Amino acid sequence: MKISDCLKAQKEKLKNAGKEERDAEVVLSCLMQKSIGEVLAKKDDELNSKCEKQCQKIIDRRISKNEPICKIMGIKNFYGRDFMVNKHVLSPRQCTESLVEAVLIRIKERIKNVGAASPCSPGSHSDATPTTIKILDIGTGSGILAITLAKELETFKNIEVKMVATDISKKALKVAKKNAKLHGVNIDFRISDIFESINEKFDVIVSNPPYISEYEFDNELEPEVKNHDPKLALVGEESGYYFYERIINRSIHYLKPGGLLAFEVGHKQSGLVHAWMSQKNFKDVTIRKDYNAIERVVLGYHRD
Ligand SMILES: C[S@@+](CC[C@H](N)C(=O)[O-])C[C@H]1O[C@@H](n2cnc3c(N)ncnc32)[C@H](O)[C@@H]1O
Repeated sequence: MKISDCLKAQKEKLKNAGKEERDAEVVLSCLMQKSIGEVLAKKDDELNSKCEKQCQKIIDRRISKNEPICKIMGIKNFYGRDFMVNKHVLSPRQCTESLVEAVLIRIKERIKNVGAASPCSPGSHSDATPTTIKILDIGTGSGILAITLAKELETFKNIEVKMVATDISKKALKVAKKNAKLHGVNIDFRISDIFESINEKFDVIVSNPPYISEYEFDNELEPEVKNHDPKLALVGEESGYYFYERIINRSIHYLKPGGLLAFEVGHKQSGLVHAWMSQKNFKDVTIRKDYNAIERVVLGYHRD
């Protein structure tokens, strides 16, 4: 069977089951260890029968158990890098890339303001003393936020990033540690109930906390999420706002003056989080949208 025939057959099954047809491309790309572009470029080549059978099996499992492809394959791409995932961590979401982007913009502005040179700036002063930026990721899960920020910032030669990442789940931290090793970044991972294991101050606190209400969990979640992401990663107590409230109220003790607090928020949660931050000693509180034009990120600076 040709690659194109296999893709056509599996996409048809996915379409009939109301699932994303693109999943068939993701599966073949994983099985063939090639990018989706490379797979499509070779679509007239013959597919070996082992690969074909594996692909069929995986797509059938995707449909019959509503299991996300990333949980079956154990891998998910986030911000251009592959991360290991399993049932103990939230599947990385594309919308979370908006949080990375928003935080990187702010950090780069800061780097510019303090005069640390980027590799892109001609004549960068390599003998300048590195600026240390301390970042805390609360509820790191698979580690995507901490690791992506560390990787993106490592190209800036004159800044030194000290990254701390916490989670209450030991099993999630195990995955995050493997991902940090995979990407060659040094992160101080700590088991912690929010700030419990934190006793220092940071320039940036970032968090994509559990933000679904108990009601939404019980009544509104798709089976892909409800049955395959850990409840611990999803539910922010009864209202869904528990972690925002806790983190906003306490972060002033863990942020340096002028430090940045940045959240991912759920659909329609931005207004309340923005209001709380503005009332609680944060300035320049801003809301940013994700690629689907949903208000997804709220961030602001601790007033000096
Ligand atoms: C929505 S997931 C985010 C995971 C990852 N940062 C991401 O963006 O994909 C929230 C994470 O918070 C963790 N968590 C839940 N309760 C926590 C608590 N009390 N303290 C710290 N982390 C917690 C969960 O285990 C989960 O890994």
